[in-house]
Amino acid sequence: MKALQVTEFAPFAEHKVVDVESPAIKPGHVKLRVRAAGVNFPDILMVQGQYQVKPPFPFIAGAECAGDIIDVGEGVKHLKVGMRVAALPGVGCFAEEAVVPAEICVPISDKMSYEEAAGFVMVYATSYHALKDRADIKAGETMLVLGAAGGVGLTAVELGKHMGLNVIAAASTQEKLDVCKEYGADHGILYTEEDLKARVREITGKGADICYDPVGDKFAEPALRSLKWGGRYLVIGFAGGEIPKVAFNWMLLKELDVRGIHWGAWIPKNPKGHMTNMMELMQMYNEGKIRPRVSGAHKLENFADAMTELSERKVMGKVVLTMG
Ligand SMILES: NC(=O)c1ccc[n+]([C@@H]2O[C@H](COP(=O)([O-])OP(=O)(O)OC[C@H]3O[C@@H](n4cnc5c(N)ncnc54)[C@H](OP(=O)(O)O)[C@@H]3O)[C@@H](O)[C@H]2O)c1
Repeated sequence: MKALQVTEFAPFAEHKVVDVESPAIKPGHVKLRVRAAGVNFPDILMVQGQYQVKPPFPFIAGAECAGDIIDVGEGVKHLKVGMRVAALPGVGCFAEEAVVPAEICVPISDKMSYEEAAGFVMVYATSYHALKDRADIKAGETMLVLGAAGGVGLTAVELGKHMGLNVIAAASTQEKLDVCKEYGADHGILYTEEDLKARVREITGKGADICYDPVGDKFAEPALRSLKWGGRYLVIGFAGGEIPKVAFNWMLLKELDVRGIHWGAWIPKNPKGHMTNMMELMQMYNEGKIRPRVSGAHKLENFADAMTELSERKVMGKVVLTMG
């Protein structure tokens, strides 16, 4: 089978898709014919040796995928050959076949394409966990979303609107803000050009109730200061580069809460809650309430094009690789 196999760390464009043996089935696992794989920033970091997880060589890159089950390992009862599933094993997905733990497979809707499913789990489940389990949202509140046209950002816009929030999208281009409006944003801020805090005040009067922040860096302080009394700041990630360091007095002055979100680490602590969230998300998809946005699909061999788009901030929603 073809796979993006990593034998040493190197800049992503120097890696190659090669022919390797298909992985052997294991107890408690299923084998997938991978149809599409979502590309995430950690995939780029991992092949370059810059990610906290460094699998032993050789390894196959790719954290998440969707495909058909073609073999079922010993002890697996709830999954059958032929089922369509999405999974996020962390590695092994940029390949024509992958062996993944049965417990992490999410059956996908018949209506959902493999491309949509390949990038669905991480971004939707992160935002849904943040908004449903962590943010204490009340209908009618206002949420500011940074990096709002990115993978997790756009799902926060869409889910936030669906959950009754007024949504202010902040992004770096007008084209991105237009996409956010299509996904439900009530207002847009070009945060690379406009004064973020002043614009939030102008739109809301007293400030936003919630900030969803997957970007960090220089935007974190004005975003935190744009919250009103009792606001909640959701720390999602640091796509902007720098991990922000803010003074505690901002939390004291307006009784703000800064709440960390670590979706991947939350799952093993609450596997039932995670499965419930996934089922609710699939139902929303089936009812047409959420629409995963795939901004580009590239063949596995052209993985570097997908990684370039992602690292150059050109992706709006998700970029995926397709196999076969
Ligand atoms: N906490 C969790 O459980 C969890 C789960 C999933 C992901 N994450 C993290 O969330 C972050 C975003 O993930 P994502 O999948 O949404 O990524 P993404 O699709 O690449 O989106 C990130 C957005 O950040 C903005 N950005 C600002 N400065 C940037 C820079 N220097 N380089 C790249 N992007 C920049 C871009 O929007 P503009 O161009 O509009 O500025 C971009 O659309 C990552 O750090 C990821 O690790 C956390």
